[in-house]
Amino acid sequence: MSIKDIESLFAREQRASEHPWSMGDLSQSLKSEDDCQIVCLHTGDAGYFVLQHNEGVTEILNLVIFLKYQRMGIGREVLSLIFSEAMQKQSNEVWLEVREGNKVARRLYKGAGFIQKGVRKNYYPSAAGNKFSAREDAILMTRAIG
Ligand SMILES: CC(C)(COP(=O)(O)OP(=O)(O)OC[C@H]1O[C@@H](n2cnc3c(N)ncnc32)[C@H](O)[C@@H]1OP(=O)(O)O)[C@@H](O)C(=O)NCCC(=O)NCCS
Repeated sequence: MSIKDIESLFAREQRASEHPWSMGDLSQSLKSEDDCQIVCLHTGDAGYFVLQHNEGVTEILNLVIFLKYQRMGIGREVLSLIFSEAMQKQSNEVWLEVREGNKVARRLYKGAGFIQKGVRKNYYPSAAGNKFSAREDAILMTRAIG
């Protein structure tokens, strides 16, 4: 993936998500061993996700469906694809962390069979990126595979 692809993902994620990844997050993830895939439709790129497979666990590091394609069932389809990938990598579980206030994503994950396994208190920087306002908890969710 080229720097132009990363810039394009970055620009579109800014519009799709209240808490988009930074350019640094994206390029670091793509340089590492993480498994980054673009979700493609015949109409163009619809989003992307980043996975990390490690010792029987597949972790979803990010999942974004771009604004124009949201609420069309693509997020749910992508999770099915991720479960198949996880099985191929011989993972027993899929893990993720989601902001406590991200009700949309939490509904998606719950609907796909994820259950809450724990809470990391004050894990994320505040929604406003303001160091004086409260930080936000991360909800750890898992789903068994197979
Ligand atoms: C969260 C996200 C990936 C969902 O993708 P999507 O393709 O729009 O979701 P789907 O159309 O497949 O919807 C699947 C389920 O998610 C939930 N959902 C999706 N959009 C919703 C909305 N706007 N309001 C409430 N629930 C919603 C519903 O439970 C829905 O099932 P239903 O249609 O039977 O009610 C997408 O909104 C997104 O990219 N958000 C910004 C980035 C983000 O927050 N990523 C998660 C990081 S942990």
